Amino acid sequence: MFGSFIFTAVLALVASVSAQCGSGTADVTVTGSGTFTVKKGSSTVYTGTDYLAAINSGITNTASGQRLVVSSSGSIGANTITIKSGITFEGCGTINVGYRAAHGAIEILNNSGTKIPYLTLTGAPYFAVRVYGSKDITFGVITMNLTGGIGIRFDRDQAANSNIKMDTVSVTGATSHGIETWNIAGFSINKFTGRNLGECGLLVQATTNAKIGTVDCDNCGAGTGYAALRFANQNGKLNGGYSTNIYVDKLIAKGGGRGLFCVSESGAAEITTVDISGTENNAILIENCYGVNIKGGTVKGGGEVRISARDEFANTKDITVTLKVDDTTVKESPCGTNIKWNISGNAKKTVC
Ligand SMILES: *[C@@H]1O[C@H](CO)[C@@H](O)[C@H](O)[C@H]1NC(C)=O
Ligand SMILES: *[C@@H]1O[C@H](CO)[C@@H](O)[C@H](O)[C@H]1NC(C)=O
Ligand SMILES: *[C@@H]1O[C@H](CO)[C@@H](O)[C@H](O)[C@H]1NC(C)=O
Repeated sequence: MFGSFIFTAVLALVASVSAQCGSGTADVTVTGSGTFTVKKGSSTVYTGTDYLAAINSGITNTASGQRLVVSSSGSIGANTITIKSGITFEGCGTINVGYRAAHGAIEILNNSGTKIPYLTLTGAPYFAVRVYGSKDITFGVITMNLTGGIGIRFDRDQAANSNIKMDTVSVTGATSHGIETWNIAGFSINKFTGRNLGECGLLVQATTNAKIGTVDCDNCGAGTGYAALRFANQNGKLNGGYSTNIYVDKLIAKGGGRGLFCVSESGAAEITTVDISGTENNAILIENCYGVNIKGGTVKGGGEVRISARDEFANTKDITVTLKVDDTTVKESPCGTNIKWNISGNAKKTVC
């Protein structure tokens, strides 16, 4: 039931962002190049050369329920744009961001009902976007061409989040993760695309009731144990158990570190299909996870498909893997509990 609710919600979100960025009449606008003009209706509320001041004036002048369109491009330096609850922040220009330690270039903190239908960022931030303590937040078409940092980060040690929806997020060049979630009840993303990321593509932690469409990573986490898609830190654990509540339609991983990595008491996940090739580390590693069903797909070359366990947590259990595996190996060690392998292809298998 939850799955179909989220599916409907994702479709609605897709429909809501299909209009062109900035189309229609916004309540507040930031326009101009080099010199910026902020208008609220027909009155000018800011004119000047300070891009950050222009955006901040735009936010100040946008009330909850209203829409701000930032058409201008510029640089905000090592600063933070703080988004307010209930507004629509539509970024149609390219916002170049700087590095503010332990902060986001854009922060959505303790918000509710905020919408970011479009956002394009460049630069080398600490976090490009940081979120905590927020509910009913929607992201539309988000493009981050970075040269450092993390794309979208939900904080670990702050208040939790609920009902977070994303349509299409593309991150290139982050030196850490594309998206890192923590503490979200109700998360959906239609498509994540990661290219040349230093660590994970999509890293999902302490998150429940997730509907993930496609994760498509090319060269994510090279030289590390990170993965195109990683579940960690009791991800999917709900009401003390691991009944399936994390749904993934498709994982594509080419090159990079690992393809799929489930670790540290995570699970409750069903993945419809995978297309993993040429990873330098494990194509798939399931370690101390509970309730994972990989329903189909292919692994070609690269590192081993492995079920494993470390001593510090309960052994891996309730795992089903249906896959065609060619030109690499499949291993279960130590033996898990209630493991069902259904492997075709030429892989050499060492399973229990
Ligand atoms: C968010 O809310 C928490 C708990 O109410 C509070 O401690 C924190 O200071 C708030 N943060 C911001 C940025 O408002
Ligand atoms: C971001 O990168 C993509 C893919 O390389 C490219 O098509 C797009 O033009 C870039 N956008 C910006 C604003 O740099
Ligand atoms: C095993 O995998 C094949 C596809 O390779 C599929 O047709 C079959 O239904 C699977 N069997 C089980 C028990 O899941």
